Amino acid sequence: MKKLSARRRHPLAALVVLLFALAATGGLYAALSPAPKAQADDSSQSIAITEGQKLFSVGCASCHGAHGQGSSDGPSLVGVGSAAVDFQVGSGRMPAQQPGPQVQKKKKQYSQQEIDQLAAYIASLGPGPVAPTANQYDPAGGDVAKGGELFRTNCAQCHNFVGKGGALTDGKYAPTLKGVEPKHIYEAMQTGPQNMPSFPDTTMPQQQKQDIIAYLNEVDTAQSKNPGGFTLGGFGPVPEGLFAYVFGLGTLIAIAAWIAARTTKAKKS
Ligand code: HEC
Ligand code: HEC
Repeated sequence: MKKLSARRRHPLAALVVLLFALAATGGLYAALSPAPKAQADDSSQSIAITEGQKLFSVGCASCHGAHGQGSSDGPSLVGVGSAAVDFQVGSGRMPAQQPGPQVQKKKKQYSQQEIDQLAAYIASLGPGPVAPTANQYDPAGGDVAKGGELFRTNCAQCHNFVGKGGALTDGKYAPTLKGVEPKHIYEAMQTGPQNMPSFPDTTMPQQQKQDIIAYLNEVDTAQSKNPGGFTLGGFGPVPEGLFAYVFGLGTLIAIAAWIAARTTKAKKS
């Protein structure tokens, strides 16, 4: 008894107890925490990043620099995020080919899995907008009427009010939005490619983006079943008004002139 209490008072006793308690907590934590799954996620993510880096050095580094830092032939990709990569590579704009005022859309050259790997690598260079998940861009989750309003205030000045596209300065143009995948519409708003401004969630929340997607989807499907029968091309109120003015008024003037000509002829004879 005396021996034990003497040991307890030993200067190292507290330290021994502390070490023992630490070891016990550590052991329990290791045994009980769901570590294995988290590790698996981490390693599949790091595999994606390494694969992405390989694809990047072959297909992109010549313009964007060995570490995505940019060069005279392409901008830095640090902080552009997975959304920009998915949009640029998924819409076939990247890898860019011939120089020109605007990188052209073409058939995409990478599989979706490779695009995801490239995106994982570039996202690892710096934080940026994250590619959306399917329920974020599903047109079914948006309000068509609200989307039309948002589209007319934010997008129509470049893309025309039914998304037909239009010319900009210096040989650039805002493309038509007909048939563009909902995911790419969402990502274009997140990242603002080229001359397009970006609409981050702080200025345009996810729901509003989804409303715009619903509107564009409605326009796409409605154009094939135009309720008026004959369309004037959907170029907007000014050209359509001009059409009515020139042809409508022109026809009336022609009829008036014809009647006048007949009545004068009738008087003469
Ligand atoms: C021939 C040169 C060239 C190649 C190859 C190329 N890019 Fe680009 N990239 C450019 C240029 C130039 C721009 C800027 C043009 C623009 O704004 O559309 C750009 C823009 C981008 C952007 C948009 C950046 C932003 O600020 O939003 C991304 C993302 C991108 N490239 C990814 C890639 C990926 C991934 C590859 C490889 C698969 C690739 N690029 C290959 C020249 C290139
Ligand atoms: C200042 C003019 C401007 C405004 C405003 C603008 N855009 Fe754009 N948009 C562009 C240009 C220019 C491009 C082409 C970029 C490129 O090719 O890299 C583009 C490209 C796009 C694309 C890609 C189309 C494709 O073929 O892949 C989508 C989708 C898009 N815009 C949607 C929108 C939406 C939705 C809005 C409103 C929230 C909007 N834009 C506002 C100029 C604009």
